[in-house]
Formats: sequence, C-alpha cells, structure tokens
Amino acid sequence: MIRLFVTDRGGTEHAIEALEGISLMEAIRDAGMDELLALCGGCCSCATCHVYIDAAFADRLSPLTDDENDLLDSSDHRTALSRLSCQIQLGETIDGLRATITPDD
Ligand code: FES
Repeated sequence: MIRLFVTDRGGTEHAIEALEGISLMEAIRDAGMDELLALCGGCCSCATCHVYIDAAFADRLSPLTDDENDLLDSSDHRTALSRLSCQIQLGETIDGLRATITPDD
C-alpha cells in the first residue's frame, strides 16, 4: 500500500492508503474526498483534478505531458507545483506523498 497525505480546501490533512498502480486522483476519490471533481474520469481533458504536490516529491513524478501542461494553463491557480492528479501513478517512489487540493477554478 502507498501512504498519502492529502490536504483538503479547508486545510485538513487526510491520511490515505491506496493500492500501487492506481492514480492519485483515484486514491483521493476512493477515500471519499468529493472536492476533487475529476469530471473526465482521468482521461486528461478536464483539469478538475488539479492538486499541488509537495516540492520534496516533485522530482520523483513523471514529467508533464503537453496535454497536461496545456490543461494546467487553463487554471487561474497554477503554480510550479501544480499537477493533474489523474496523471500521477502511485508507486513506491512516491510513498508518503503530500498533496493539496487546489482552490476551485
Ligand atoms: S480527471 Fe480530468 S484531467 Fe484529471
């Protein structure tokens, strides 16, 4: 199991355990955090799964694709730590990942 620590929009951190191989978006959704709309279901076409990743983990994630980069550009809340959580696959290298759900666009 992969351990995750996800902060909601109210500032509360939730400890989550999720199976390796699913996406961060799926792990957050399966934990019952409904702030993350994930409207497209993870096919990288909506940007409603936007999160901020803890800087300590940024180098351990797969690089942004052009599609993810373009979608993040549509957010008013994009920062250098922005990622679409549906594009992050859970694995041992990111065990303990911290992420924060971004403000609603
Ligand atoms: S769920 Fe739609 S882009 Fe991630």
